[in-house]
Amino acid sequence: MRISGTHFRTIWCDADGNVCVIDQTRLPFAFEIATLRTVADAAHAIRSMMVRGAPLIGATAAYGLALAMRTDNSDQHLVQSAALLRQTRPTAVNLAWAIDQMLSVLSHCAGPERATRAFERAGDICDADVGICEAIGTHGLAILDHRLREKNGQGPLNILTHCNAGWLACVDWGTALAPIYKAHDAGRNLHVWVDETRPRNQGASLTAYELGAHGVPHTIIADNTGGHLMQRGMVDIAIVGTDRTTSRGDVCNKVGTYLKALAAFDNKVPFYVALPSTTIDWSLADGADIPIEERDGRELSHVTGRTAAGTLETVEIYPPGSAVLNIGFDVTPARYVTGLITERGTCAASREGLIALFPEHARAAA
Ligand code: MRU
Repeated sequence: MRISGTHFRTIWCDADGNVCVIDQTRLPFAFEIATLRTVADAAHAIRSMMVRGAPLIGATAAYGLALAMRTDNSDQHLVQSAALLRQTRPTAVNLAWAIDQMLSVLSHCAGPERATRAFERAGDICDADVGICEAIGTHGLAILDHRLREKNGQGPLNILTHCNAGWLACVDWGTALAPIYKAHDAGRNLHVWVDETRPRNQGASLTAYELGAHGVPHTIIADNTGGHLMQRGMVDIAIVGTDRTTSRGDVCNKVGTYLKALAAFDNKVPFYVALPSTTIDWSLADGADIPIEERDGRELSHVTGRTAAGTLETVEIYPPGSAVLNIGFDVTPARYVTGLITERGTCAASREGLIALFPEHARAAA
């Protein structure tokens, strides 16, 4: 995607073989590049949410192992580094997927070849993610066009999204936002309702930032506003991303997604989930078994923003002493999901639907 006319991916290697990422904790007020030189840097970037979003977490972990092999290519360091990265964040399954992909390549080589192969494989994972997300965009565009026809072409098509499932969450394009970029670029008349997405405001800080940079009309709303808009007929379709999808189509995404799905169901608003197949956990059938991340309560009780003087400041907004619970994700049962938009097409949120698109997983699927 382009920022001020320059094309960026969210992660790339520089001339010195270090890994560069966009520091998402600085957005939307500053566009800063951070350099990752060690596996510890990569682990910190994931844990601190300098990088976040399921596909980008996986890509960063892959490059983290490559950085590890550059320092010390021993088996012991490989195992320790994989364990360090694996424990950074629990919910997005792309993290474990990418680490397993890397281990299967690196277990077949040794010595200096390991670092070379690791950087190659990490690069391949990133390139594949770009292709996958663009394909999701193409399949999702067909759904948006169908919805526009149902409105007799009367735009704008009002799309609601939660959290950030755009290019900042992936390597490029995004998942839920890829169809929106495709539709916008093709001249469709659309408008996006952007859920603020407390506590870290990925909607307000990141989704709004990237939609704005691309020129897509959008409006930020408080997280609790979507249901009201749906009752008033002001939402034509909802599209969100997912951090882990079970083999039966239950979807785990940023907390608050479930309530949007309930409101959409009650108001007969189509509710789609866009995902790369790397986000499917074929070993799990029931969304209740997905590990849900619990984060520091400070993310709720403190807010960072820009002052009138232009400096960034963090302020406390809760009464001191109140208990705080910061749950990162929730599970939307498959019955509330109209369809899953994948790189191979759109299917029902069910075992049958997923297996029809990904028959190679039929035996492994729980
Ligand atoms: O905590 P985050 O910001 O990593 O959560 C990200 C989300 O919930 C996204 O919606 C999800 O990863 C899908 S992104 C393609």
